[in-house]
Amino acid sequence: MFYKITAITMTILFAFTINVLSQNKYVGLKSCIACHKGEKGKMVYESWLKTKHSQAFNTLKSEKSKEIAKRMNLKSDPTEALECLKCHATGYFPDEQMSPSNKKEDGVTCEACHGPGSAYRNKHGKDKKEEGLKLGLIIGKNDEKICKKCHNQESPTFVGFNYKKDWEKVKH
Ligand code: HEC
Ligand code: HEC
Ligand code: HEC
Ligand code: HEC
Repeated sequence: MFYKITAITMTILFAFTINVLSQNKYVGLKSCIACHKGEKGKMVYESWLKTKHSQAFNTLKSEKSKEIAKRMNLKSDPTEALECLKCHATGYFPDEQMSPSNKKEDGVTCEACHGPGSAYRNKHGKDKKEEGLKLGLIIGKNDEKICKKCHNQESPTFVGFNYKKDWEKVKH
């Protein structure tokens, strides 16, 4: 009996470790804009900079954010609180992992919508679309679902969400 339980526990622990080790990590804005900036990168970075996603972290410094935090009885400042960072930064949902190059100050970055990039960042693109998708790149299939990870009732200021209309405001 004892051995059986031990064996089961070991199996679960092993599976858990493999899962954690192989989970894709958020690598940060810099890794993406190395290639997706300027004319050569089809101005994707420049167009993202103009959206509110690039300002999402800064919003947490506003008076309005402090009021919301007070109303919700948060123990920490909004810029430190996981309750806010999970949607106003990238990689802060409880099951997510990041490498040190991922910066909360950059707000809602490329990877917030395209998935954590540790595996696909250097293995996708022209003629390698399938490979990218296999390594965790998100595009085309789950786009609306990804938006709703943050654009939902859990947002203290939720104004509703309409994929077609809202994509027009942030598209690139
Ligand atoms: C080494 C250069 C390089 C890096 C780094 C890079 N990309 Fe790309 N990426 C490309 C190229 C080249 C393409 C194909 C041409 C295009 O669409 O601009 C591409 C295409 C894409 C596409 C369109 C889907 C596809 O397969 O065509 C997405 C989305 C994307 N990249 C996101 C990212 C994200 C997010 C990061 C950061 C984690 C990143 N890229 C980092 C070079 C790169
Ligand atoms: C990681 C969370 C997250 C994801 C994923 C996300 N957003 Fe956002 N979005 C935000 C936050 C936070 C703001 C508010 C930023 C601010 O004002 O500081 C925002 C703001 C916006 C705005 C601006 C609203 C306004 O008042 O003008 C639009 C439009 C938008 N998002 C569209 C989208 C679309 C379309 C997608 C999916 C393709 C998406 N978002 C995915 C978190 C997210
Ligand atoms: C708010 C979510 C969101 C953010 C943030 C975001 N993207 Fe995208 N991106 C999308 C969606 C959704 C599409 C696919 C739209 C479609 O189906 O036409 C897309 C398309 C692309 C494409 C393909 C464009 C083409 O010509 O086909 C590239 C490349 C890309 N994104 C790179 C990036 C990079 C680099 C960043 C960061 C600077 C970024 N994205 C930030 C949601 C996002
Ligand atoms: C579930 C995701 C989510 C969480 C959690 C979240 N936000 Fe937001 N926040 C958003 C989105 C999406 C927007 C864009 C407008 C909208 O739909 O609420 C936004 C917009 C805002 C705005 C701008 C509203 C305006 O004036 O236009 C402020 C301020 C803000 N959030 C503060 C906070 C603070 C402070 C916290 C933590 C207590 C927080 N948010 C937690 C998703 C979230």
